[in-house]
Amino acid sequence: MAAVTVKRLWKEYGPQVVLENLNLEIAHGEFVTIVGASGCGKTTFLRLLLGVEKPTRGELLLDGKPVPAEPGPERGIVFQRYSLFPHLTVTENLLLGLEFAGSRFLGRLFGARRRVATEKANQLLDSIGLYAARDKYPSQLSGGMQQRLSIAQSVICEPRILLLDEPFGALDPGITADMHEIILRLWALNRMTIFMITHDLKESFQLGTRLLVFDKRRHDPQAPEAYGATVTYDLPLKGRDILPVGQASA
Ligand SMILES: Nc1ncnc2c1ncn2[C@@H]1O[C@H](COP(=O)(O)OP(=O)(O)O)[C@@H](O)[C@H]1O
Ligand SMILES: [Mg+2]
Repeated sequence: MAAVTVKRLWKEYGPQVVLENLNLEIAHGEFVTIVGASGCGKTTFLRLLLGVEKPTRGELLLDGKPVPAEPGPERGIVFQRYSLFPHLTVTENLLLGLEFAGSRFLGRLFGARRRVATEKANQLLDSIGLYAARDKYPSQLSGGMQQRLSIAQSVICEPRILLLDEPFGALDPGITADMHEIILRLWALNRMTIFMITHDLKESFQLGTRLLVFDKRRHDPQAPEAYGATVTYDLPLKGRDILPVGQASA
C-alpha cells in the first residue's frame, strides 16, 4: 500500500487553476523533494496533504484512504518561519507539540505521563543538539536552533508523514549542512515519509530519494490563470535508499 496516492488531482481557486491532473504514488519511507517556480502550487500541494485544503477534482489518499479533514498527529508540518511560543522554554515548546496532538486523545500531560513525555523530549533534544539549551527561551536561540526546535516539535508526535515547506530557506547557508544531517537522522530514526519543498536544487538532490518538479505544461499568456502546474519531472535519485518502513504503524 502506497503512503500517498494522487489520482487525477486538480486544485482550483475560483477561475485560477493551480494544480492540474497530478498523478503520483509515493511509497512509505520515501524522502520526496519538490522544486518549482514561485507561485506554481507547491505549498498548495502540501496543504492538500495536510488536509486543510481539498482537491477540486480527483483523489488524494493516505494509506489508501481519503485524507482526514483535519490535521492530525500522523502528519506534521514545518514552515520556513518558526512556529515557537516565545514565552515557553525549549522543553515546554516541545511538550506543547505533544499536548496539541494529545489534547484530542489524552488531555493535558500531568504526573507520570508528563515525566514520560519529558524524558522523550529530552532524548529528542539530545539527538538534535539542543539538550544543553533546554531551559532557554526561543529568543535566546540562533535561527538554526529555533528551526531545529520547530522540526523537533513536529517530529515528537511521531508523524508518519512530515511536510517541510522550505524549512531551511530563511537560514544562514553556513548551517545548512548541520540541518541536513539532523533531518536525515530524524528521517531514519522515525521512518517517516517526507515531502520537502526547497528552492535549492542542490539540496533537493542531496536529501531526496525522489525529486518532483512542478511546472506548467501549457501556458496561455492571454489567460495566465487558465492552466495549472503538474509534475513535469519525477526523478528517482540515486545514492539514497528508501528506508525499510515495512508495516507503517510505527
Ligand atoms: N487560499 C487561497 N486562495 C486563493 N488563491 C490561493 C490560495 N492559496 C494559494 N493561492 C494561489 O495559488 C497559487 C499557488 O500558490 P502556492 O501553492 O503558495 O505556490 P508556491 O508554494 O509554489 O509558491 C498562487 O497563485 C496563490 O496566489
Ligand atoms: Mg510556497
